[in-house]
Amino acid sequence: MTGAASTQTFRTAIVPAAGLGTRFLPATKAVPKELLPVVDTPGIELVATEAAESGAERLVIVTSPGKESVVNYFRPAPELESALERKGKTALLEKIRRGPALLDVEVAIQKEALGLGHAVAQAEPNLTDADEAVAVLLPDDLVLPSGVLSRMSAVRAEYGGSVLCAFDIPKEQISPYGVFDVTDTADPDVKQVHGMVEKPAPEDAPSTFAAAGRYLLDRAIFDALRRITPGSGGELQLTDAVALLIKEGHPVHIVVHHGDRHDLGNPGGFLRAAVDFALDDPEYGPALRTWLTDRIEKP
Ligand code: G1P
Repeated sequence: MTGAASTQTFRTAIVPAAGLGTRFLPATKAVPKELLPVVDTPGIELVATEAAESGAERLVIVTSPGKESVVNYFRPAPELESALERKGKTALLEKIRRGPALLDVEVAIQKEALGLGHAVAQAEPNLTDADEAVAVLLPDDLVLPSGVLSRMSAVRAEYGGSVLCAFDIPKEQISPYGVFDVTDTADPDVKQVHGMVEKPAPEDAPSTFAAAGRYLLDRAIFDALRRITPGSGGELQLTDAVALLIKEGHPVHIVVHHGDRHDLGNPGGFLRAAVDFALDDPEYGPALRTWLTDRIEKP
């Protein structure tokens, strides 16, 4: 058995994708933001790929009425497959089969937009007795390179409880995030969490370690989610359920990730991700680089 396999602590990943995508209006009148392509691949497939690579076998997508296309994206498209087969378009065939082959995708519906904590809670009926812990991946966040969930799984195997991914962020940029109150462990990238606060003012932030959209949560989170009341923004916050668990003695740690990240949740961040991925693309990268270099010199 490999080291990674022996510390696999979850089989189910939850992706909350129920938001209205207001920052992408007017496009999101018709297209869910999770299906907008980073080069040619929807953000939700990038996140599903990360979940599958981290050992998840099942993906529960929490979405809202009218956004079922996010889930349908992972269904096979037999007519399109036949058409591409007839034309001998094997590379395209491979691309459209990739998403459905990743892992089993199920849907949970969040009927009302009551917050991230409420969205995650909607996935509970999809779980089985075997799901002692679940991974949660926020599709707005691309965490690069992938692999942090496997690291987090190893930390749960060692300490038990729940493990979250954190980025060290400059204090003045901390307020859009959930922020951790931490103490060190022997491993400089693993810290014990003593409290967590959602979207604090910089002067109230307990540290510069911010939640970065990847969570490995003990099943106890669902009980905590039933007991929280509306918090920041009047919403039921996942952060508040984690804070409640900590208060009750549940072990929570963070893994500090030292890579890149992209915020696909707004057009500025999304464009950065698209350019970053396109520059590395063998087909589009070279021409884009030349054009971009030329374009930024223009007034
Ligand atoms: C959510 C979480 C927050 C976390 C952030 C990461 O906030 O509530 O704790 O730090 O994602 O992107 P949102 O971006 O949905 O406002």
